[in-house]
Amino acid sequence: MLQKKVILTEDEMPRQWYNILPDMPNGMNPPLHPGTGKPVGPDDLAPVFPMNLIEQEVSPQRWIDIPEPVLEKYLFYRPSPLGRAYALEQFLQTPAKIYFKNEGVSPAGSHKPNTAIPQAYYNKVFGTKRIATETGAGQWGSALSYAGALFGLEIKVYMVRISFDQKPYRRLMMNTWGATCIPSPSPETNAGRKMLELDPNSPGSLGIAISEAVEDAVTTPDSKYALGSVLNHVMLHQTIIGLEAKKQMEKIGEYPDVIIGCAGGGSNFAGLALPFIYDKIHGKQIAVYAVEPASCPTMTKGPFVYDFGDTVQMTPLLAMHSLGHAFVPQPIHAGGLRYHGMAPIVSQLVLDKMIEPVAINQLETFAAGVTWARTEGFIPAPETNHALAMVIREAKKAKEEGKEKTILVNWSGHGLVDLMAYNAYFEGKLSDYELPDEEIQASLVALENFPKPVCK
Ligand SMILES: Cc1ncc(COP(=O)(O)O)c(C=O)c1O
Repeated sequence: MLQKKVILTEDEMPRQWYNILPDMPNGMNPPLHPGTGKPVGPDDLAPVFPMNLIEQEVSPQRWIDIPEPVLEKYLFYRPSPLGRAYALEQFLQTPAKIYFKNEGVSPAGSHKPNTAIPQAYYNKVFGTKRIATETGAGQWGSALSYAGALFGLEIKVYMVRISFDQKPYRRLMMNTWGATCIPSPSPETNAGRKMLELDPNSPGSLGIAISEAVEDAVTTPDSKYALGSVLNHVMLHQTIIGLEAKKQMEKIGEYPDVIIGCAGGGSNFAGLALPFIYDKIHGKQIAVYAVEPASCPTMTKGPFVYDFGDTVQMTPLLAMHSLGHAFVPQPIHAGGLRYHGMAPIVSQLVLDKMIEPVAINQLETFAAGVTWARTEGFIPAPETNHALAMVIREAKKAKEEGKEKTILVNWSGHGLVDLMAYNAYFEGKLSDYELPDEEIQASLVALENFPKPVCK
């Protein structure tokens, strides 16, 4: 009988996360204080994050122990299965072997709890009572709401308006786990009021919602802020995905030739890819693709610059690929990929030629998601569809070349709460949008006088 999936026992779940910082081939540009232009120190970040997470953000240690209470909570849904997409392979008549790491099995339905749980845990240990955050598609907001319920923390979520309207069930998930969720821009913060003055009908963006959540956290007692992607400690927590996948592939004597993930802020992609990129740094031949929307082409068209992580310029300056902090992406249905920047670790590895970015249009991604659902059954999230579109491209290429490649993709989340997006696709209401270069140039003007990162 064909082996359809590889399962790790609970004992086999990794006990440490992998930190790529000490292995970065050309190092990293430090985050800068926007006022002084100097690297930020722990004290600058202390109003926003608990000190234990700040320490993790800059840790030089390659392996970091996963605390026992976090391991216990991971066991609610981890280790996650590694599936083999035989039905898709057959449908495509490809010689490629397609493996998918199914992160859709978590209670929130995506990879996001992998970092929500440790972030809630470290905040709890630090003494935080309440966390404010933003959410795009609602996946991160629901994951943190779930983690807040596990550790008894109050959670307030600023949800990008367009997604708030498109995805009412995500808000209800957050409410069910005990969190409060409001649309952003909101009248509750200075940042939100400023954006509403500029455009009362603003669809919102992750950049605006981050500004609101940071302002909320630093102005409310006993509160901290949490981010669901982009930062080093988030990439670190997500490496549980790649570490498990590596063990699972080892069990069946496999190793990937191609690794694929979708990238919004970069966390699910990095989570799968970083443990394999360690091997690539040490000489392994692997093609590693990070897939973004053509309407928000951060890595493929955005320069590597110092920029703010949020719209209202409250965060430190991060060295990353960016379309400009004021950029408001088109209201496409992959809400989790509508972010102007990219994780500094992922951005640096793109420069280092360890990662190849690819931009794909919305219609191709939905077609891929539907093909996946009609062959493999599980209905993917619109974000995940970007990775699946690339899988299909690679599988077709393998067929043309007559090569038996092994493809590993991160199946970052299910789309059961995103069916309205599928409905819009079926009704022909979705269209492709490639961001014109003039629009990017206009949005980058604001960065002209910012410090420039070192590109080795
Ligand atoms: C299912 C899913 N995949 C991918 C992403 C993109 O985020 P990241 O790039 O941090 O993995 C999101 C973000 O919300 C998501 O919900």
